[in-house]
Amino acid sequence: MAARVIAVANQKGGVGKTTTAINLAASLALAERRVLAVDVDPQANLTSGIGLKGQSSSQGTVYEALTAKTIPDFSGFVLQTTVRGLSVVPAERNLTGAELEMVSLENREKRLRSLVKQLVGQYDYVFIDTPPSLGLLTLNGLVAADTVLIPMLSEYFALEGLAELVSTLQRVRASLNPGLDIEGVLLTMHDGRTNLSQQVSREIREFFKAKVFDTVIPRNVRLGEAPSHGLPAILYDKKSRGAKAYVSLAKEILNKDSIILREKYD
Ligand SMILES: Nc1ncnc2c1ncn2[C@@H]1O[C@H](COP(=O)(O)OP(=O)(O)O)[C@@H](O)[C@H]1O
Ligand SMILES: [Mg+2]
Repeated sequence: MAARVIAVANQKGGVGKTTTAINLAASLALAERRVLAVDVDPQANLTSGIGLKGQSSSQGTVYEALTAKTIPDFSGFVLQTTVRGLSVVPAERNLTGAELEMVSLENREKRLRSLVKQLVGQYDYVFIDTPPSLGLLTLNGLVAADTVLIPMLSEYFALEGLAELVSTLQRVRASLNPGLDIEGVLLTMHDGRTNLSQQVSREIREFFKAKVFDTVIPRNVRLGEAPSHGLPAILYDKKSRGAKAYVSLAKEILNKDSIILREKYD
């Protein structure tokens, strides 16, 4: 079975994309799935949050892979993490320049797809963490992916900018990646005690219906602390509510995948 490739995207910053990519990837790896996370955000928060700040293979980081004249062997860019079963292709700051440099390259929107395709036989899940914009890097993520996971804050302005994101997904489907589906919308930094969080999550569920994950990620300080230790929350404090919420999200996805698998073979 080829890996499922999931892009984590929302052009808003600070909604929990990177936190979700790291903790969901780590939770699936601990469930003995083979997982690769690819950092395509020039802020490189996934890379540092998983303990690989400033590290790369001799080939370089995702920047060199994306901007090379001919598509290189992507396996040469993969690093192991301290989490067994979790590998990462790291990013660094210079990735900022990639958006401009890629413009003149052939198939500029499909570069990441060509790279990731090489590795789908070796993993069960590939996550792509994207930057807070709808530029060429995020577009590459969406074109490379089977599905998109959209983290959203349970806050008043959560739905602002949603139309733009939805129309980008439609454009990608219409041209570059007809099969792109929504993996799910994930409510993050939820504070169940406030009416506002409740009201906003109701609105998001009305809009996206069954596409919203049952699992809701609470606001939890441990999730904010873990990356400064270079660890996913499950290894930093496995009893924290944040760590448990991401384990529950991983279970929800594994469960859905096994149902789909059973339907395919019945
Ligand atoms: N559920 C949460 N509870 C508390 N802090 C969180 C939570 N999710 C993310 N954070 C923190 O909020 C900030 C933004 O999250 P991040 O995942 O980096 O968002 P994005 O990748 O969308 O910009 C980070 O400092 C992160 O550690
Ligand atoms: Mg991020």
